[in-house]
Amino acid sequence: MRQKEVSEAALLRILKLGSPGYSSGQVISAALGISRTAVWKHIKALRAMGFAIKAVPSKGYMLDTGRLPFNGVEVSSTLSTAIVGRKIHFHETLDSTSTRAFELARAGEAEGAVVMAETQTGGKGRVGRRWESPAGVNLYASVILRPDVAPHRAHELTFMAAVAVAEAVASLIGARPVVKWPNDILIDGRKAAGILLEMSSETDRVNFVVAGIGLNVNALRQTYSDAVRDRAISLSEKTGAPLDRAEAARRVFTSIDKWYKIYLKKGFPFVLDEWRGYFTSVGAGVRVVSFGKTIEGVCAGVDADGALLLKRASGIVERIVAGDVETVGKDSG
Ligand code: BTN
Repeated sequence: MRQKEVSEAALLRILKLGSPGYSSGQVISAALGISRTAVWKHIKALRAMGFAIKAVPSKGYMLDTGRLPFNGVEVSSTLSTAIVGRKIHFHETLDSTSTRAFELARAGEAEGAVVMAETQTGGKGRVGRRWESPAGVNLYASVILRPDVAPHRAHELTFMAAVAVAEAVASLIGARPVVKWPNDILIDGRKAAGILLEMSSETDRVNFVVAGIGLNVNALRQTYSDAVRDRAISLSEKTGAPLDRAEAARRVFTSIDKWYKIYLKKGFPFVLDEWRGYFTSVGAGVRVVSFGKTIEGVCAGVDADGALLLKRASGIVERIVAGDVETVGKDSG
């Protein structure tokens, strides 16, 4: 985020702390180390972004916290993360936040930068599918990470992101979701979030990873196409009321920040252990489409690399490293 936006997010934080009262121009200027003229300029910029801020000469500024717009400055003002969300590129429309994040990362954008959009015209899902991205209701975000790992270990970030998003979802709905291998987040058997991991690498090292997250926050069922409608669920369907998307973004970014640090410090086994806690398919009949082949069997868990283990009728256990999984006869994941 540019310096100006950093001050705007910081100013917003001060106004929120002062709410429902006034924050004086003098206090704000001292807290941010900027002139009172600069404070006024930032207030005008915040108003232009849709924040309702009252200014009374003898009192200062008061923010209407009941009418907050959803944008990068608002999300940023809620964050206290070390890495994820240090910079937020917020757009009304993009073809894909992940495509944009990939371009930015290639041009040298720092780790932790996030690209967000209110809607995507070409949202990308796993295995070449589309990600339906209705406007103004959900979360579409892509995080740039630069882990110092070999390319063959980049898939570990898939599990890290799944654990992080699952934890954030759990905190938002007050119930544990299920993870479908490797990283779909399900509530009551329907998909609440999808994660797409893309990477740029050399033969021996990862340049960067883009973790794209699509979280169905408030979209109504009828917004989705016939093909997706019965398989998707929004968090609001579960909670019975619309959720604050800035809060949803805060929980997701804070959780990725936490689990990325855990991954770097404690290693993949620790992350995978946590992931197993959300995985309920062990012992269930499973159908996998992998590299154009359909294989059926009983899920025997995942191995230490996160590969899916499938016990065939013959007794042979197959190791699946990529593909699409469907649970047969049980719809919990
Ligand atoms: C899946 O198929 O389950 C993965 C879906 C990932 C969707 C997200 S939305 C934000 C980011 N931008 C994209 O184009 N895709 C990911």
